[in-house]
Amino acid sequence: MDLYEYQAKEIFAKHGVPTQSGEVVTDPEAARAAAERIGGMVVVKAQVKTGGRGKAGGVKLAKSPEEAQARAADILGLDIKGHIVGKVLITGASDIEQEYYASFLVDRANRTYLAMASVEGGMDIEQLAVERPEALARILVDALEGVTPSKAAEIADAAGFPGEVRDQVIEVLQKLWTVFMAEDATLVEVNPLVRDPQGQVLALDGKVSLDGNADFRHPEHAALEDAADADPLEAAARAKDLNYVKLDGEVGIIGNGAGLVMSTLDVVAYAGEEFGGVKPANFLDIGGGASAQVMADGLEIILSDPSVRSVFVNVFGGITACDEVANGIVQAIELIAQHGKTIDKPLVVRLDGNNAELGRSILQTAALSGVSLEDTMDGAARRAAELAAAAK
Ligand SMILES: Nc1ncnc2c1ncn2[C@@H]1O[C@H](COP(=O)(O)OP(=O)(O)O)[C@@H](O)[C@H]1O
Ligand SMILES: [Mg+2]
Repeated sequence: MDLYEYQAKEIFAKHGVPTQSGEVVTDPEAARAAAERIGGMVVVKAQVKTGGRGKAGGVKLAKSPEEAQARAADILGLDIKGHIVGKVLITGASDIEQEYYASFLVDRANRTYLAMASVEGGMDIEQLAVERPEALARILVDALEGVTPSKAAEIADAAGFPGEVRDQVIEVLQKLWTVFMAEDATLVEVNPLVRDPQGQVLALDGKVSLDGNADFRHPEHAALEDAADADPLEAAARAKDLNYVKLDGEVGIIGNGAGLVMSTLDVVAYAGEEFGGVKPANFLDIGGGASAQVMADGLEIILSDPSVRSVFVNVFGGITACDEVANGIVQAIELIAQHGKTIDKPLVVRLDGNNAELGRSILQTAALSGVSLEDTMDGAARRAAELAAAAK
């Protein structure tokens, strides 16, 4: 989960990283009131989960509360790379002597952590990394050792931080590492980290991504989730512990095992080309032990997606045999009926693997309306795509 700048800064403050506090507001009048409370020159900053806000006109100085109100009115509703601004952060303006850059991230290629730092921070760090890679220090961090004072000094010196801020930067790097570890982040980035005219180093921007796999260790992270931001179907699926990702096509997909589902997406997209570019509507892996309840939950999520026109259930029986899955489908349709819903979209089912024959005969005997069986994955993909195209 990516955090907003204001959330990242709250986490920074919690771990002692020097940063500015501010107020998050959703309307211009509240921006004026916030600016009045903060006093003096303020910055109005679009809160969207994408970089480059400054360049897109999403970060503006305001000399007075009235100006803060006007800038907030300009920025709220702005489209920044497809993200509509719904809230702005009002924070004190800082005089900037120099802009630096610092980050910690997971380095998958090297199977370890990576620190990056530069004394040429600011808005164009990606460009700097490409054009003058030598200006961006990259230091691997051992997961077991972490960022000790000497490691932090190594990072600071590799980036060439000047003597007058070196001690502060070493301190800040260790605190950012604490954020990275203690919060189970996959990215902690500060750009810019600035030196103000008084010689103080502080984080003026913050980007933090949290590792969802570690959520169980952080019940407090749930509060950081932005309900307005999440896809309602994905949120409903998450509430039921389903591995669901919404896509933008028309064929609903249910399969058991992530690999099978991935290849199902491919065959459906391929088959769909013949029918005017019909595509998969989602990824949904119901996993190995697909009970009737899980099948029902999955079907309900997929059927409530208005863009779904047909559903392809692709199951390869393994430890959970096809007869159990077939019974699961029958019971799932009963469960859905008990919820007062009918299955008004055609279902194409392919069963293969352990007890496939038995599974098919169970479905044939049940003779569920709208449910058809196909022998092969390709055949089923083609049929599901055809049905989706016909329903358009
Ligand atoms: N509180 C602040 N005071 C003064 N200048 C700021 C402040 N916050 C941001 N800026 C300036 O705006 C630029 C862009 O802001 P930033 O928060 O980094 O957004 P983004 O990285 O999305 O463009 C910064 O590089 C900095 O020069
Ligand atoms: Mg920035």
